Amino acid sequence: MGKLQIEGGRRLEGVIPISGAKNSALAIIMAAALAKGESILENVPHDTDVAVACQILEELGVKTFWDHEGKLHIQADNLRAYQAPHELVRKMRASFYVAGVLLARLGKAEVPLPGGCSLGSRPVDFHLKGFSSMGAEISIEYGCMKAEAKKLSGCKYYINRASVGTTVNLMLAASLAEGTTLLENAAKEPEIVDLAIYLNSMGAKIRGAGTEVIRIDGVKELVGVEYDVIPDRIEAGTYLLAAAITGGDITVTDVVPEHLRAFLLKLRETGVQVEEGESTIRAICRERPKAVDIETAPYPGFPTDLQQPFLALMTIADGTSVIRETIFDRFRFVDELRLMGADVKTERDTAIVRGVDKLLAAPIEATDLRAGAALVLAALAAEGVTTITGVEYLDRGYEFLEDKLASVGAKVKRLKE
Ligand code: UD1
Repeated sequence: MGKLQIEGGRRLEGVIPISGAKNSALAIIMAAALAKGESILENVPHDTDVAVACQILEELGVKTFWDHEGKLHIQADNLRAYQAPHELVRKMRASFYVAGVLLARLGKAEVPLPGGCSLGSRPVDFHLKGFSSMGAEISIEYGCMKAEAKKLSGCKYYINRASVGTTVNLMLAASLAEGTTLLENAAKEPEIVDLAIYLNSMGAKIRGAGTEVIRIDGVKELVGVEYDVIPDRIEAGTYLLAAAITGGDITVTDVVPEHLRAFLLKLRETGVQVEEGESTIRAICRERPKAVDIETAPYPGFPTDLQQPFLALMTIADGTSVIRETIFDRFRFVDELRLMGADVKTERDTAIVRGVDKLLAAPIEATDLRAGAALVLAALAAEGVTTITGVEYLDRGYEFLEDKLASVGAKVKRLKE
């Protein structure tokens, strides 16, 4: 566990290369365990969530290693165990993807339920109903899902909300099921499309990823391939906000601007000048940003993962902004912003942010990954030296955070506790 010490008030300027998408990588790493033979994954970020996913697979008999070029190798020919390790699964919600893999490969899975987290209650009921629609017998014993299906069979399943995790888990399970699965009201996130492309390159038959209906014709086997994970749109958005909040000029490279459409629209509305290239985005901020309202929504709407970082920008904006969070309970971190002088009121799913002239440094604590990102942004803008604890949350999803920030002129130091 460590702390970050950030000396705020510096204008950030420069170029930041964006890493591979954590959320895509997590799904793809699990999908690699569906296949015979080795997959070699490029552009996988070195963050702790990825490390946990690999550890879980290792415990089940899968070989994983990073080569000297930073590519991740996954070989799952010896996947034999069906009981996922409790402590590891509880660390990260996406671990539950292993359920789809085990059911598809071994016809049996025992996976602890992820439980709630700092984003509020996060059930997996849609996942479980999906598995049972595919013919799995499911029971919950002592906080653990026990599922069994000699052979999963294709089904038509309407996902109650366009849930990313459910769409991933059922795509994994359905790829090796007997017959055709139709996932209706599926999530349309770029990470879902990335997973489908990877699975198809291994021999799966998936159509419609990126639309509301995904059709998966089950196949007998999948074979490992080399694959390059898409860029992390949330990491890119965070660094563009770093330019905005410090009155700076940052270009993020290796990105897909299309994946950030709704976010860029809102960033432009604040008055930040945004220039898009084919795989670059530059944000130039010359004056105090204007307050704008946002409402989170599943893709292609404004991403919930950028809500907290965007709220941080609004704390110093000119005017009052209304922020509505429709996906998770993600406002607890505003208490930390208040310690820095921010004027934020929250009621249920809405935050009202009255922009103040400046933020002041304070000792603050990150309580989840994107809250951590928001607090880093606030600290970059604040007067004085801010100390942020809970850095382990940031390590879950921001590879080389201090180095990247330092490369554009930030003064950031990691202190060991
Ligand atoms: C994924 C992302 C996360 C992002 C979120 C929404 C990964 C690893 N994580 O999380 O970064 O913030 O999508 O874009 O990709 N729900 C249920 N029952 C279920 C499943 C979901 O009620 O069985 C609810 C959730 O509580 C939430 C909503 O559906 O309110 C959407 O959740 P979901 O899209 O599943 O989020 P995750 O996959 O957990």
